[in-house]
Amino acid sequence: MKRESILVTGGAGFVGSHLVDRLVEMGHDVTIFDNLEYQVHQGRLPDYLNRGARFICGDVRDADVLTRAMEGKDVIFHQGAAVGVGQSMYMIRKYVDYNSTGGATLLDILINNRKIRDRVRKVVVASSMSIYGEGLYTCDNCGDFTPKLRPNRQLEAKQWDIMCPECKAPSRHKGTPESKPLFPTSIYAITKRDHEEMFLVTGKSYRIPTVALRYFNIYGTRQALSNPYTGVAAIFSSRVLNKKPPVIFEDGLQSRDFVHVSDIVQANILAMENQAADYTAFNVGTGRNITIKHVAEILIRRLGAGHPMTPRIENTFREGDIRHCYADIAKIRDMLGYEPSVQFEDGIDELTEWVANQVAEDGFERARAELEQYGLTQ
Ligand code: UD1
Repeated sequence: MKRESILVTGGAGFVGSHLVDRLVEMGHDVTIFDNLEYQVHQGRLPDYLNRGARFICGDVRDADVLTRAMEGKDVIFHQGAAVGVGQSMYMIRKYVDYNSTGGATLLDILINNRKIRDRVRKVVVASSMSIYGEGLYTCDNCGDFTPKLRPNRQLEAKQWDIMCPECKAPSRHKGTPESKPLFPTSIYAITKRDHEEMFLVTGKSYRIPTVALRYFNIYGTRQALSNPYTGVAAIFSSRVLNKKPPVIFEDGLQSRDFVHVSDIVQANILAMENQAADYTAFNVGTGRNITIKHVAEILIRRLGAGHPMTPRIENTFREGDIRHCYADIAKIRDMLGYEPSVQFEDGIDELTEWVANQVAEDGFERARAELEQYGLTQ
C-alpha cells in the first residue's frame, strides 16, 4: 500500500482522532488540523492525541494556516465543525461561520492553489443524518411518506407519534435511504447540508473525487462528556456519573441509529480507498433503531452502581427534534462493502468502561436553561 500524505481537519475531536489513529496505524503520513475549541477541549491538547501525527493548531476559516496544512496532501478528510444542534439555534452566525464559511475556505484553497489541486486525489467530508429531518415512514393503508416536523399543537398535546397524513392512522418507521428528500430542522443541519452540497458540487466540477458521509448518532470513547450540547449518550453518561438521572424529552420512545465510532472510521477508509464512492453521499449507521429510553436505562445499569435511579421522563419537547430516523445502509453496503461491526450492547460496554474513569462536568441544566430562555423547549 502506498504511504499517503493525509490531512484530517478536526483531527483532535471525537471522530477525527479515531480516524487519525487508524490512518497512522495503516502507515500513512498524517497531519491533524484543529482549533482545540474550548467547549470541547477546554483549551487543552487532548492526551489521546496520536504522537505519530503532526499537529497544526488552526481555524478552518484562517486561509493562511489552512493553506500550509493542505500543501502536499493526497487526501483530505474534513471533519472539523462546530457541533451542537440546539446551540446552533441561538449562535447562528457562529455555526454558519465555522461550518459553511470554514468549508468554503477549504474549497477555495483547494481550487485556487494549483499545486494543492493537482495533488489531492480524494476529499471526504463529514455530513450528518440531521439533514434529513424526520426519517422515512410507512402507513399500512397508504404506503410510504416523508413527513416534515410534527406541528407544535400536536406536540403541545403530547402526541408524539407520527400519523399518516392521508388516513391519520398510526404509521411505522422505516430505514431512511439517501434518496429521502432533505429537510434540515436546525441551523446546524443546514450547515451540514451546505458542507455536503458544496463539497460534492465543487468536487464534481473540478473532477476531484469527493465523498460525503452522512453520520448517524455516533457514540464511543473520547466523546466530549463535559459538552452538554453533544449527543445523547455522552449527556446521559455525564448525568449518571454525577449521580443525577438522565432527563428524557418526549416519552423516551423516540429512536435513533447509534453507530460506534469505529464503524464511522471504517466508512471513511472505504470512501478513501474506493473509487465507486466518488461524487456521492452515503449513510453511515447500523440500520437498527434504539429508543432513547433504552439508552438511558442501559447507561444507568452500567454506570449507576450504588445509586439506584430511573430516568426522568419529562414529556416535554425540544424544538426541531424528530421522532425517528435510522439508516437504510443498503447503498454503502452494496457499493463499498461496509458492514457495521460493533453491536450497540458491546459498544456501550466499551463506552461505559471508559466513562467510569473520566471526570465529567454535568452541564445539562445550563444547556437546558439556555434552550428555555430562547423558547426552544417546552
Ligand atoms: C445528533 C447530534 C448531531 C448529529 C446527529 C447525527 C447533537 C446535539 N446532535 O442529533 O450533531 O449530526 O446526532 O450524528 O450533538 N434527548 C433527551 N435528553 C437529553 C438529550 C437528548 O431525551 O438530555 C433526546 C432528544 O430529544 C432526541 C434524542 O435524545 O429525541 C437524540 O438527541 P441528540 O443526541 O441531540 O441527537 P440528534 O438530535 O439525533
